[in-house]
Amino acid sequence: MKIAIMGAMLEEVEPFLEAGEHEPLLKYFNKHSDVVYGGNLYHEAKYKNLDIVLGYSKIGKVNAALTAATMIEKFGAEKLLFTGVAGAVNPELKIGDLIAATQLCQHDLDITAFGHPHGYVPEGSVYVEPSRELLHIAKAVADEKDIELKGGIVATGDQFIADPERKEWIEKTFDADAIEMEGAAVAVICDAFDVPFFVLRAISDAADMDATFDFDEFLKHSSQVSSSFVLAMLDKMADGTQ
Ligand code: ADE
Repeated sequence: MKIAIMGAMLEEVEPFLEAGEHEPLLKYFNKHSDVVYGGNLYHEAKYKNLDIVLGYSKIGKVNAALTAATMIEKFGAEKLLFTGVAGAVNPELKIGDLIAATQLCQHDLDITAFGHPHGYVPEGSVYVEPSRELLHIAKAVADEKDIELKGGIVATGDQFIADPERKEWIEKTFDADAIEMEGAAVAVICDAFDVPFFVLRAISDAADMDATFDFDEFLKHSSQVSSSFVLAMLDKMADGTQ
């Protein structure tokens, strides 16, 4: 089974790669080989009985789509786990909290001029849903480790949101719980190729006036929270108990 582990920023996947404040999560991985393709660096490794391809896309929907498609089409990924950070829309989500996307949408996709709803284009759908099986594994990991894992709607767009008005609009229009800049692009690609996927985000900011400051301060910590959880999911998948 080949699993893709994807982030948008180096910081989001770095916990798998480098020793720092914490042990490198991939210290048990062996047989690293690094491949540059389409301007991105991919790491191939073996973890227990799983083949892994790991990389980050750079920020935004286009970059994310390229990386997800590459991981599937060139590297043969059969499942994709996305790890990273997000801005909270739901006030119950605090910095460091984990949210697993149960639906993803594109808040900046707009052909409403033709009478379509926000986030919709013909032959598509406003919301794309991740794999139930992977959500089930995530829930089992959260239960076992006594980690609070919320589920919710993740809205994606090519904008860093640091504006209460825009945040409120996204919340009202899509019933969103969190916002980020890649998840729905990954979802559309995986859905198109019929590859089960899962998007996990740890909150780095509240998409408000303090968002840029909070993002810089909490990016590393929240990335670590999200990566650790994804590693626990890999353990469960490797054990074959799920
Ligand atoms: N990722 C993390 N915080 C974000 C925000 N406020 N807007 C968009 N993407 C984000």
